[in-house]
Amino acid sequence: MPNSKIAGIGFYVPETVVTNHDLTRHMDTSDEWIQERSGIVERRYAKPFHETSTTLGAKAAERAIERAGISKEDIDFIIFATISPDYFFPGCGVLMQRELGITKTEIGALDIRNQCSGFIYGLSIADQFVKSGMYKNVLLVGAEVHSMGLDFTTRGRNVSVLFGDGAGAVIIQPTEEEGKGILTTKLHSDGTHAEKLAFINPGCHSGYHFNQMGEDIDFGYDKDIEYGGRFLTQKMLDEGMIYPNMDGKLVFKTAVTKFPEVIMEALDDQGLTTENIDLFIPHQANLRISQFVQRRLKLRDDQVWNNIQRYGNTTAATIPIALSEAVEAGKVKDGDLICIAAFGSGFTWGSALIRW
Ligand code: COA
Repeated sequence: MPNSKIAGIGFYVPETVVTNHDLTRHMDTSDEWIQERSGIVERRYAKPFHETSTTLGAKAAERAIERAGISKEDIDFIIFATISPDYFFPGCGVLMQRELGITKTEIGALDIRNQCSGFIYGLSIADQFVKSGMYKNVLLVGAEVHSMGLDFTTRGRNVSVLFGDGAGAVIIQPTEEEGKGILTTKLHSDGTHAEKLAFINPGCHSGYHFNQMGEDIDFGYDKDIEYGGRFLTQKMLDEGMIYPNMDGKLVFKTAVTKFPEVIMEALDDQGLTTENIDLFIPHQANLRISQFVQRRLKLRDDQVWNNIQRYGNTTAATIPIALSEAVEAGKVKDGDLICIAAFGSGFTWGSALIRW
């Protein structure tokens, strides 16, 4: 069975740069607070009416396709990881197919909604499809337009300052080269804390999960209805219940445990150690988390790539953007061992080892 490899990679971020200072015009925050807690200096925001997760993803995909030396029509499967999709349904996978002008229908398209671990889950799925011989050119995209769904008032500041927009894409192909390509992927989940990092409304939950947990939250649903109802209520709109929420401390605490665990799991699986890693690209959630993991794994600065300072947390897009940047900067050489890892909503987390 051949391994699969990343045959082409590209990224795209919107032109609009929004600094921490810019955000102070909307909410009570400061450049100092944001930099100290997250490392973020600025992020990019998509242009309303012109850019969506699909269009950003398509620009990244075009670069990946070109670098892989294939044409759009060679793509036989699309995996699109995003939690800021253009529509509730259909998914961005088919919108991407249309945006790229792929007219053949002998192709599948799948959306992944795993938040920060979305790219690694997508990589694992692509890897299995390619290894099994089912597909030969899988386009995997991670793209987000968070700026359309953030609370820019002081109420939302703990979340809004962290996130940015952007996209990264890769082409996954089989490789006959012994020991090269995707060596392993490790995936995990724990639904216990599902609501601790979540975008709850609008949704079709009618408060069910909160009632099960003994929290009777009034979402503004009409209590008398027998069936049907609304997934968006006036109360949700009036009281700002339509934004992401996060228990930052719990996310931080859990992330710094799970990152090293899942990285060591992948290394052990391959009989490798942290010293063998040429480049570690952590999901860019927070510079403090990445630095904590780096210290825990005793990695040198030159073994780690961080770019959250310039883009913020672009969720499913952080890893392909960072990997693409690293490749463009000449930081990734033939035969290098690349380690990627992510942790996020769900909670879900994962890692992958790639021999370039
Ligand atoms: N600007 C200024 N003050 C802010 C703020 C902002 N943007 N956001 C929150 N604060 C305030 C809070 O209101 C609080 O004030 P109080 O003490 O008067 O109540 C104070 O800062 C501390 O808030 P807290 O939430 O306890 O801060 P923290 O030290 O936990 O840092 C995070 C917050 C979000 C930076 C941190 O928890 C974190 O990085 N968590 C992980 C987040 C993450 O990675 N998410 C993505 C996962 S994929």
